[in-house]
Amino acid sequence: MGRPERIDTADFPAAVAAGWDRRRFLTATTAAAALAFSVGTPQRSEAKIVEDALPYPYTMGVASGDPLPDAVVIWTRLAPKPLEPYGGMPQASWRVEWEMAEDPDFSRRVLRGRTLAHPEYYHSVHVDVRGLRPGREYFYRFKAGGQVSETGRTKTAPAEDANPDRLKFAVASCQSFPDGYYTALRHIADEDLDAVLFLGDYIYESGINSEGGLHEVPEPLPPEFASDAITLERYRLQYSLYKSEPDLIAAHQSAPWIATWDDHEVTSNYVSLDSDSWNQPIDFAVQRANAYRAYWEHLPLRLPEPDGPDLKLYRRFRYGKLAQLDVIDTRQYRDDQAPGSGDSAVRRDPSRTVLGDQQERWLLNGLTNSPARWKLVPQQIPMAQLDSAGGSGLSLNMDAWDGYLPARQRILDAVRESGTENFVVLTGDAHTNYALELLADFDNLESQPVGVELVGTSICSDRDGADTTPALQTRLVENPHLKFANQQRGYLLCTVTPELLSTDFKIVPYVTRRDAPISVRQRIVVESGKPELILDSA
Ligand SMILES: [Fe+2]
Repeated sequence: MGRPERIDTADFPAAVAAGWDRRRFLTATTAAAALAFSVGTPQRSEAKIVEDALPYPYTMGVASGDPLPDAVVIWTRLAPKPLEPYGGMPQASWRVEWEMAEDPDFSRRVLRGRTLAHPEYYHSVHVDVRGLRPGREYFYRFKAGGQVSETGRTKTAPAEDANPDRLKFAVASCQSFPDGYYTALRHIADEDLDAVLFLGDYIYESGINSEGGLHEVPEPLPPEFASDAITLERYRLQYSLYKSEPDLIAAHQSAPWIATWDDHEVTSNYVSLDSDSWNQPIDFAVQRANAYRAYWEHLPLRLPEPDGPDLKLYRRFRYGKLAQLDVIDTRQYRDDQAPGSGDSAVRRDPSRTVLGDQQERWLLNGLTNSPARWKLVPQQIPMAQLDSAGGSGLSLNMDAWDGYLPARQRILDAVRESGTENFVVLTGDAHTNYALELLADFDNLESQPVGVELVGTSICSDRDGADTTPALQTRLVENPHLKFANQQRGYLLCTVTPELLSTDFKIVPYVTRRDAPISVRQRIVVESGKPELILDSA
């Protein structure tokens, strides 16, 4: 479809009224009421509060995320029967207690509290636990309906003025349930990490057959799974299936997550309020509101609940003076993809944006004024140029930064002109491992790098994959700034010190069977102050 007229989402309720159900919305007296109705999620009520006994409700485990020096968000969802509507919970608000300790036996408990799991939030619980000490490991658990959850382990960020000697995190993305097993996530759970960065495609919106695709399920999936997600209930069901997987639960339980989304949390290759599946942007806005809400309900995010089609997900984390993480969102605010795969005037149009003006200003300002040594940018789509055509001519992915050349150039120019060192982009989306140097000017492949990009492969999307393919070999020839490529499944294990960023590209040999072992396919090192990739042969 062509690019639709841009909608000012401040006018969303009126636009919904125009395009969706005029008569009902014209009777709504406030924007909030209209929005709440449009996504089928009434404002949180003071419904009946219940403390009755429950069957074991923590079928999706526990999670933590968004670590600050003094705070971390802890999460769970009460769902005794995860694939039933409302997870098998009655339509009432349940009393939930939580506690946090310095040891896994809870003998050194530091904080405890009570909250409510509301049906309007699908009985999910997000507690922003404040008053913690910086750079410390903590353990947490929940109690509801007479049942105690398993214990999660989390960690706060160091104090902003601290000089930590090490930060260790995993980079993961793309866990298409029907494509295979989450064995790589089990291996992530066995690492001793400060954080897990999850860079999108936490779910895929697509329907799943009753056998669960290649990911065997104990019982046939209900018929609702046959269709793609559009409604809030269907998105919730998709999360309920994905999050019941023990390897994903284990990875959440092991460390705090810092998450951002890509396209499939909503629908394939959408941008802003443009999706190929709808003729009217406003119809897609309703779908996006449903998708964003289900995402918020199921991830340990420090964000207010979304009440419409917008959710500001970009945010910044600091690990003392060692590292800054600018987590960005390349989906919600961008212009439509350029046509074709070759060079074009559209691709070079400086008015087109990936981040939107506000987020772009926020990123450039934060990057170029950071007091931290390493400037890490966890995000979704490959930033470095990646030409897939052999010989002359370009074949580019217009859904990546390649389709928005001036928008990318503004970032590279800002880094170069400000003398910003140790600029590292961390990327998902590609279902391929790549290590790339970010050149000052991709129209001149002999220009100097201003930073590096590490693209992590999928957890299991696109099934087993292969060590290499003819297409990867062509890319290695055509892109001299591409230093390593591999198409197996796994994750990146990154260790940051003041002197070095060391990345292990960790792979599993298969995902279509259980219990694959993990190994390091390649280690790549970046020295502080030198934007170049060193392939470690050890
Ligand atoms: Fe993906």
